[in-house]
Formats: sequence, structure tokens, C-alpha cells
Amino acid sequence: MSGYRVGVLGATGAVGSTILEVLAERDFPAAEVVPFASERSAGRKLDWNGAAIECRALSPETIQGLDVVLSSAGGAVSAEWAPQLVEAGAVVVDNTSYWRMHEDVPLVVAGVNPEAADAHKGIVANPNCTTMVAMMALAPIHRAVGLERLVVSTYQAVSGTGQRAIEELQAQSRAVLAGEDVPAAAIYPHRIAFNVLPQVEVFKDGDDYTTEERKVMAETRKILRLSEDVGISATCVRVPVVTGHSESVNIQTGRELSPDECRELLSQAPGLVVLDNPGDGIYPLPIAAAGRDEVLVGRVRRDPSHERCLNLWVVGDNLRKGAALNAVQVAELLHQRDLVRVPAGASLG
Ligand SMILES: NC(=O)c1ccc[n+]([C@@H]2O[C@H](COP(=O)([O-])OP(=O)(O)OC[C@H]3O[C@@H](n4cnc5c(N)ncnc54)[C@H](OP(=O)(O)O)[C@@H]3O)[C@@H](O)[C@H]2O)c1
Repeated sequence: MSGYRVGVLGATGAVGSTILEVLAERDFPAAEVVPFASERSAGRKLDWNGAAIECRALSPETIQGLDVVLSSAGGAVSAEWAPQLVEAGAVVVDNTSYWRMHEDVPLVVAGVNPEAADAHKGIVANPNCTTMVAMMALAPIHRAVGLERLVVSTYQAVSGTGQRAIEELQAQSRAVLAGEDVPAAAIYPHRIAFNVLPQVEVFKDGDDYTTEERKVMAETRKILRLSEDVGISATCVRVPVVTGHSESVNIQTGRELSPDECRELLSQAPGLVVLDNPGDGIYPLPIAAAGRDEVLVGRVRRDPSHERCLNLWVVGDNLRKGAALNAVQVAELLHQRDLVRVPAGASLG
């Protein structure tokens, strides 16, 4: 069978297992899918499109002969292995934060800035799931009227932290409901069940913003190519939801945009669905977004404090468009643009 030999790195994880599902659902020309995980999972059988495929550990031998690798095994693994995979001839679509802000690595949201991939030198980065969801709604508005200022407040699901965080929420919730002792928090700094944590990731080097908040601000600027004049402020919050990141976004636009014009603009945008009839209880919900490819947007309304400000409520599946779907869409656009190859002489500066 003709097609690419596709590596999926982190194939046993929350994102990697969704990548396997999405690859099976779409018609990306994969002749073979090779799953990679840690040494712990080597030999484990995974299902891909009805066939059993066997997990491998990373080694200089096992990474040979791959055309494209969709990588989600954490930043440290990508830091070490992405350059080796590129050296071995594979284009890497990386889901971790490690390469996103590197000046030689395009940060691509399919449907928003596909042209950025043209300049790749072997690695294309997938944005953070929170940034990705917001970009789907903000890019069409920015293209039409320009963004001058953004204030983003998030309500993020635990699957954004990975498989073990889902298990932590479930175990704690079961214990609370059964009136038993609640297992101590291990993944999060506090109990997540029946709670809300105003901390996503860590406060690094005395910063009073978390690393997640910094990512949302920096990645948004890179993807939309916003100048330093555009103010961006983010507050990221973890909520006891399994899948689906929700975001309240306040935007200030370059020219006045009515809520009706904004809804019309958003309804034309690919990959986005407007659900905005709040009087009838119709607005985006994480349980409605989970498992869906589209990002949902609603509650579009004027900010009464400023004539050029609107409020939006945006919700997307952090594992699908937020990670796995976008990674596969990036692989598809690389294929369509004949870019599934490492350019001769390419090196990351
Ligand atoms: N979850 C999201 O919504 C989301 C969205 C965007 C980006 N990301 C990023 O994607 C990455 C993975 O996230 P996740 O949520 O899928 O995490 P996860 O559920 O914890 O899965 C981690 C995966 O990495 C593998 N792995 C760990 N150490 C490894 C090593 N030394 N060598 C090879 N494989 C190794 C694990 O294999 P074993 O099973 O063998 O341990 C597992 O397959 C993270 O960098 C995260 O920031 C996540």
C-alpha cells in the first residue's frame, strides 16, 4: 500500500490515543502507523483502525524510516528526540510546548495560519490547547477588524493535564460521593473534585502568571502576528470537567463590530459553530464540545464599558482541535503542500 510511514509518539497517552482515533477517522494517507511510548509500554498492543499495533520505545534504530511523526510525549522527550527524528528524515508535528516559541519553528493552527508551515525546517509546532481553542474564534475577527486588546479567562478540563489527571478527578469524585476519605491530590496542588483551581501549570521563577498563562499570551501573539501594542492578559483556571476547555474572551477591536456582525463573521469561519440563543439555554458547553471537531462560540455580547469591546464564550475539545485533530490537520496540509520532507540543509538555529 502506498502512503506515509507515520510515527505516533506518546501513543498511550491522552493526546496520543486521540491521534490514533483521528488518524483512523480521516483519510490521511498513512501506509503504516508506528506507535511509540516509554520503555514501560514497549510491546503493549494498541488498536489502530481494527488492527493491533505494537508500542516501541525510542532508540536510534526504532526511529529510522519514518516520514512524519506526531509527537505528544512531553517537552523533555521532544527536546531530546525531535532533532534526532528530523535527522533521521521525519517531519515532526510536535504537541508539546518545547519548540513552540523557537524562531525556526512555525506554530500552526490549521484553518488559521496554514501558510506558516511552508517555512518549516523539520519541526512544526501545535499550539497549546487553550490557545488553539481561542484562535479559532479570534483569527476571523482579527482578519476582519483587527484586535487591539484581549482579556482571556479560562475554565480548563483535567484531560488537558493527561491521563493520570482524569484518573485523579474520577477517584476523588467517587470518594466524595461515597462519603469516604478523599485520596490526596497528586497531580494538582489541591483537590480538583468539587473545586476550582486558579492555577494551571506552575508559577516559575517568582512570576505571578503561570507558565500556562504565559503560553497563551505568547503563542496568541506569534500565531496572529500581533504587535507589542496589542495588550493580552490571561487567567487560566482548572475546573472539574473531564474534556472541553471553556474560555471567556473580552476583545477590543480596531473598528466597532456589533454582536450581530460578529456572529455573522464567526458563522462563516471554518471549524467554528455559533451557538447563541441564550434565552433558550443555547450556548457552548464542554459536554457538547467533547468529541466534536468544531470549536463552539456563543454569548456574543457588547461589553457595556467600551464601545469597541465584545465578550465571547468559546469552548473546544482540548484533545481534538486542541491537540490531536490539529496535529493530523497539520500533517494533512503538509501533504497537500508537498512538505512532508525535511528541506535539504535545514538546521534549527
Ligand atoms: N492533554 C491535552 O489536552 C494536551 C493538549 C495539547 C498538548 N498537550 C501536550 O501533549 C503532551 C502529552 O500530553 P498528554 O495529555 O497526552 O499526556 P499523558 O496522557 O500523560 O501521556 C504521555 C505520553 O508520553 C509517553 N511518554 C512519557 N515518557 C516518555 C518517554 N521517556 N519516552 C517516550 N514516551 C514517553 C507516555 O508513555 P507511557 O504510557 O509509556 O508512560 C504517554 O504515551 C504534553 O507535552 C502536553 O503538554 C496535551
